[in-house]
Amino acid sequence: MQCYRDKILTMDDIISLCKRRGFIYQGSDIYGGLAGTWDWGPFGIMLKRNVMQAWWNFFVDKRPDIFGVDAEVIMNHKVWEASGHVKTFADPMVEDLVNHKRWRADHLLKDHGIDADGLTNDELTKLIQDNNVKSPDGNPLSGVKSFNMMFRTTVGAIESSDAVTYLRPETAQGIFANYRNVVDSLYPDMPFGIAQQGKAFRNEISPRDFIFRSREFEQMEIEYFVHPDQWEAEFENWLKLVHEFLEQVIGLPAKMIHDYEVPAQDRAHYSKRTIDVNFDYPIGQEELMGIAYRTDFDLMNIQNATGKSMEYRPKDGGEPFVPHVIEPSFGVERLIMAILTACYTEDEVDGSKRTLLKLPKSLAPVVVTVSPLLKNKPELVAKAKEVYNQLQQAFPGRVNWDDSGNIGKRYRKADEIGVPHCVVIDFDSLNNDDVTVRDRDTTKQTRVKVSELAEYLGK
Ligand code: GLY
Repeated sequence: MQCYRDKILTMDDIISLCKRRGFIYQGSDIYGGLAGTWDWGPFGIMLKRNVMQAWWNFFVDKRPDIFGVDAEVIMNHKVWEASGHVKTFADPMVEDLVNHKRWRADHLLKDHGIDADGLTNDELTKLIQDNNVKSPDGNPLSGVKSFNMMFRTTVGAIESSDAVTYLRPETAQGIFANYRNVVDSLYPDMPFGIAQQGKAFRNEISPRDFIFRSREFEQMEIEYFVHPDQWEAEFENWLKLVHEFLEQVIGLPAKMIHDYEVPAQDRAHYSKRTIDVNFDYPIGQEELMGIAYRTDFDLMNIQNATGKSMEYRPKDGGEPFVPHVIEPSFGVERLIMAILTACYTEDEVDGSKRTLLKLPKSLAPVVVTVSPLLKNKPELVAKAKEVYNQLQQAFPGRVNWDDSGNIGKRYRKADEIGVPHCVVIDFDSLNNDDVTVRDRDTTKQTRVKVSELAEYLGK
């Protein structure tokens, strides 16, 4: 994958392509939308599944030391008390004193070119006053308060404090809560990891930047349990693995990926070391994923809250210990934003501008589009259907039928969806049992025998 653009890509370019071509729509759009929510369209869900499968394949299927789980979104409220999220999972909020809209204080300061990472609420309040920062509507602002980002809900028909819980703000706690179960069921060798993919929810004060900061999103997380003496070596190893995944498997350009050592005051409450792996998005360099050294913070919290031992008994008879944890944590949406950013390309074909997504074949939602040259010629349509059915066997669910508009418009549509190849059945196909295969990136056309087509496209 490469970035061939010479134009400056904007978020609007990506949002507009995603909507136009059925990747991503505003959530509840028909009712006027719901801020910070996004729905996946037919091609978006296929891309998302391919990305999630690539992660699972690389980090779970190919490794004997990593095991998958799928825990519930709704967990006992004690999980979030023990984990520290009830007390500390908060963002700094200010209120517009005229219209009472609420904003993220650090984001408002950043928009004024003032770095506000890692500051206390009092320090943020002072910065806002000293710099005369107003709300985006031009009104004065309140002092800064903490706003807990977890979505509260109640479980069951009786409303009591015990019924209160939260939609999970990270999948990680579903892993930690099952650590004892997995050790008891499998007794894996140390070090080992537990992986989970699934939804997480954060009640962002002011969601923005498309799917980059939404209220509902999908995480892919691993908690990798290690002996405390091994954490530094394992941390370095995970950093390498993450780069291998991003660059070799997903195909992101290495020059767009940057490691950022997060200073102590900016790290999450559970982390003793964090590296954010940042990416050059249209909105600037921002976090794509993070690797955190969570120490024994979570397992000790569980042990203290439940009275149940989280110790691991080494198989060689060594001293039992509570493992420490390295956590590589991906947000699917941020990874997809990175892919769209890297693949979005504009060039010129036959004197006119064209937009294409140079998605790698392994991630492209559609591998091939099949078209009869003319849709009102039954013999062409019949032959094209035959080819379509044959390719569906070879690439199940990843073959698209398109007989709309003229052939030029079909090519442009397929380019924007990122389809690597378009197959067209014309009159010669009826005599020669071959088709035209057009390559997305070069627009070059090649005649290929129908009997050799699946193999040709699979290459
Ligand atoms: N588990 C880390 C995070 O959700 O940010």
